[in-house]
Amino acid sequence: MAKIIDGKAISLAVKDEIKAKTAELASKGITATLAVILVGEDPASQVYVKNKKKACEYCGIRSLSYELPADTSEEKLLELIDELNKRDDVNGILVQLPLPKGMDEDKVLDAISPDKDVDGFHPVNVGKLSIGKKGFVSCTPAGVIQLLKRSDIEISGKECVVVGRSNIVGKPMSMLLLKENGTVTVCHSRTKDLKEVTKRADILVVAIGKPKFIDASYVKDGAVVIDVGIHRMEDGKLCGDVDYASVEPVASAITPVPGGVGPMTIAMLMYNCLSSVCED
Ligand code: GUN
Repeated sequence: MAKIIDGKAISLAVKDEIKAKTAELASKGITATLAVILVGEDPASQVYVKNKKKACEYCGIRSLSYELPADTSEEKLLELIDELNKRDDVNGILVQLPLPKGMDEDKVLDAISPDKDVDGFHPVNVGKLSIGKKGFVSCTPAGVIQLLKRSDIEISGKECVVVGRSNIVGKPMSMLLLKENGTVTVCHSRTKDLKEVTKRADILVVAIGKPKFIDASYVKDGAVVIDVGIHRMEDGKLCGDVDYASVEPVASAITPVPGGVGPMTIAMLMYNCLSSVCED
């Protein structure tokens, strides 16, 4: 029987800590402000943005919302980012992805000032992470580290295997585990014998975007399994990249979907917003 890592409870604890800190800052006249930009009407993005604004409200962070039509030009979007970069009363800028087809996502993300890049996607922040300097860290992998730490799971010296090499999750995840002194292996679609590698993991982080891909045959007895995936199945239920029913009996700890990594992403976004106005 695995311990179930409760991301909902842990994210709430993180948000409550942030709320206490923002209240303290408010008494000194300091407020964090996040500008959220959504281009187009992608329904999933609309839900994400709504949840981000709700979390801001809960945490005592001011949010400004920019909802632009799908046919907004890249130039107009860059102008808005430039204006927000210059505004002293805006501390964080988030452009919800994906952007409508035809927009150059890299160009748009690169236009956000690294000092306001609360998503941690700007090359400057990615570079800082890779050399162990302070900067904004991508929220989902940062959330995974919090889940492990707050569940008293030791990372130092452990075999950590990350499945997936995306810029948003896999790569920063590997950097963060390395920073915590894990021995890190990154697997991807060209990995020759995936099972052989994942079975070595004491801590297995899965972010491949394939529903229920990882079953018990990929997992060492007693491993900690973190599932970053989220998919809606035909019956309307949510599932992750891990086949939970198969893996749970062999793991020592596991994140459920929903209620595992998901809630941590927004909690860490709030953390990044708070750190945009204070040091610790
Ligand atoms: N779309 C899906 N995940 C994310 C995220 O973490 N940040 C942004 N900006 N867009 C996303």
